[in-house]
Parts: sequence; structure tokens; C-alpha cells
Amino acid sequence: MKILITGAAGFIFSRFASYCVEQGDSVIAVDSLSYAGDRTRIAAIEKKIKFYHCDITNSASIDEIFAQEKPDVVVHGAAESHVDRSILDASPFLKTNVIGTQVMLDAARKHGVEKFLNVATDEVYGELSESGYFYESTALNPNSPYSVSKTAADMLGSAYFRTYGLPVITLRPSNNYGAFQYPEKLVPVVFLKALNDEKIPVYGQGLNVREWLHVDDSVEAMYMLISKGVVGEAYNIGSGEERQNIYVVKAILDIMQKPHSLIEFVKDRLGHDFRYSLNCDKIYNLTGWRAKIKFEAGIEKTIQWYYDNADWAIAKLEFLRKYWSIVY
Ligand SMILES: NC(=O)c1ccc[n+]([C@@H]2O[C@H](COP(=O)([O-])OP(=O)(O)OC[C@H]3O[C@@H](n4cnc5c(N)ncnc54)[C@H](O)[C@@H]3O)[C@@H](O)[C@H]2O)c1
Repeated sequence: MKILITGAAGFIFSRFASYCVEQGDSVIAVDSLSYAGDRTRIAAIEKKIKFYHCDITNSASIDEIFAQEKPDVVVHGAAESHVDRSILDASPFLKTNVIGTQVMLDAARKHGVEKFLNVATDEVYGELSESGYFYESTALNPNSPYSVSKTAADMLGSAYFRTYGLPVITLRPSNNYGAFQYPEKLVPVVFLKALNDEKIPVYGQGLNVREWLHVDDSVEAMYMLISKGVVGEAYNIGSGEERQNIYVVKAILDIMQKPHSLIEFVKDRLGHDFRYSLNCDKIYNLTGWRAKIKFEAGIEKTIQWYYDNADWAIAKLEFLRKYWSIVY
């Protein structure tokens, strides 16, 4: 297959691009190299793929790439991805996540593709209390500027399927973690703070619950859905590994043999969703896929990766310090 992947210099889709190369697919990577993009993540496969440094909101350039490359499949992962930033300024989120998705859908429609995988998130459903699950049929009810922009993109994909018959498949993964995640997200933030024996800010009392999905599991599920996913359908991709934020922070501190006294509770994130949890029967019944990596094993491996690649994470720090106040 010739697969065009947007956001391929980012955390998840760099891993996805590598997986596709391993499967023998031809990969066209498109990424604007925003602050979150980094070609280091795809350095090992750069010679085997074609990379376009391009903003997905630039419709003329995207059109040229489609005309030139004629991809069979589009996996659209490019996005502004950090909720806290969206709370400070929603505009880049609306531009990239909504307009950018529209540009990608229009290009796919014009040039024709076999499948268009539209990457959404579990955050489109809103929040849960302590019990219950989100099903694919659950009404979308997003709360943050980020999740609203992702919901618009999610629904735009469904609209293009219904209106134009574009073969869109919607993916709704839960909280990914693993190697090469940008150090503004919880796991690498805790790692870097703890490495320097700095206080670790935790929102509220750290009781919010997320479903932790290792990026390797996530990538495997998404890849399966290229061939097995039914067009017009949405698929939850979760792990069942629900953990409170405070549990995650303490687990990392324990692996690093750092004291829990580094934890500092701070004012909660505005509009902070309490809990997300996905029912994943649909993908399981279709493909037999279940996440394999238990949180405790995955986080240990991830922290080891950050130790081994501390230079990469620390190099991001200088840039990130400008934004440090918004990280928590
Ligand atoms: N990380 C998670 O836990 C998670 C969970 C569910 C869904 N998602 C979704 O998965 C996708 C990837 O997430 P991630 O964590 O890898 O994000 P990321 O922030 O690490 O990577 C995003 C990539 O998109 C690129 N990008 C941003 N704006 C662009 C633009 N206008 N044009 C072209 N490229 C642009 C960036 O340069 C970056 O390489 C996103 O759609 C995100 O909403 C992520």
C-alpha cells in the first residue's frame, strides 16, 4: 500500500510510519514540523520514506502532494494535540484540527483514495463519572477547546462519508504513552521534573482517570483498521488500563526511586474532564485486537527509554521552559 500519513514527525504517527515501513508499505509523510514535530523520530526510516514539510491547511500544497503521490490510503494524524495549550489559545486548534482536516478530506475526495483514516480521540465523548464506558454510539459531548476541535474534525469525516461517499474510518484512541512523547505531556513531564529533583505539579488531587494505551498497541490497532475497518464506522481504541493521574505519577517516581514528596498538588485544569473509558468490543469483534501491554510494564519500558534518551528530552526543555507555566 501507498500510505500518506499526516503528523508523521509527531509522537504517535512517527511510530505508525515506522510500523508501516516494517510491514513493507510505501510511506508518504506530511508534517509542518510545528514545535511538536521532530524528524529525529523518523531518522531511522527517512531513507525509506518520502517526507513533505507541509502545513495541512495549505490546500494548494496538499493538492500537489496528492497529485504527485496518488496515495491508496490516508492516515490523518496531524493535529494540535495539547489540551492545556488549547485553553490558552484555541485558534491554532481550530485552524489545524478543523480546517486542516477539511483540506485533507477535500484532497482525498478530489484525487480518490481507498480508505481515509481520520484520527480523533476518546475526548470527543466528554467525561464520565466513576462508572460506565463510552461506546462508539455514545453522543459526542466534548468539553475543552482541543476536544471540540477534534470533534468537529471527527464529524466532518463522517459528513464526507455520508455526503460524498468518501471511505472514511474514524479512530478514537485513548491516552497514548511511550517513547518520544513531547515533554509537555504527563509522563515525560514527570520524568524530567523528577530527574532534576524538582516539584511535580499534579492537577487537583490527581484523581482524574485516563485509560493508558501504549503507543505500540495503539499503532497495531490503527494499522489493522486500514484493512479491516468498515468505511463509515468509528472505532474506539483503548487498553482497559485505567489509572488515576496520581497513580501514574507515583509509579514513575517509584521506578526512578524518587520520593513522593516531590508531588505538589496545584489548581485544577479549567474544565478538567474527570474520567474517560472506552468500550472496545467493536474493534475486538472485528479484528480480534486487544491491547497487550499492561500499564506497569509499559511505563517501566517508557521510563527506561527516557533515561536512555534523556538528551533528546532535555534538549526540548529550553524551548519548553518558555511554556513551562502552561504545562500545569
Ligand atoms: N497522544 C495521545 O494520547 C492521543 C490520544 C488520542 C488521539 N490523539 C490524536 O492522535 C494524533 C497524534 O497525536 P500525537 O500525540 O502524536 O501528537 P503530536 O503533537 O506529538 O504530533 C502532532 C504532529 O502533527 C504535526 N502538525 C501539527 N500541526 C500541523 C499542520 N498544520 N500541518 C501539518 N502537520 C502538523 C506536528 O508537527 C506534529 O509532528 C492527533 O490527531 C491527536 O489528536 C492523541
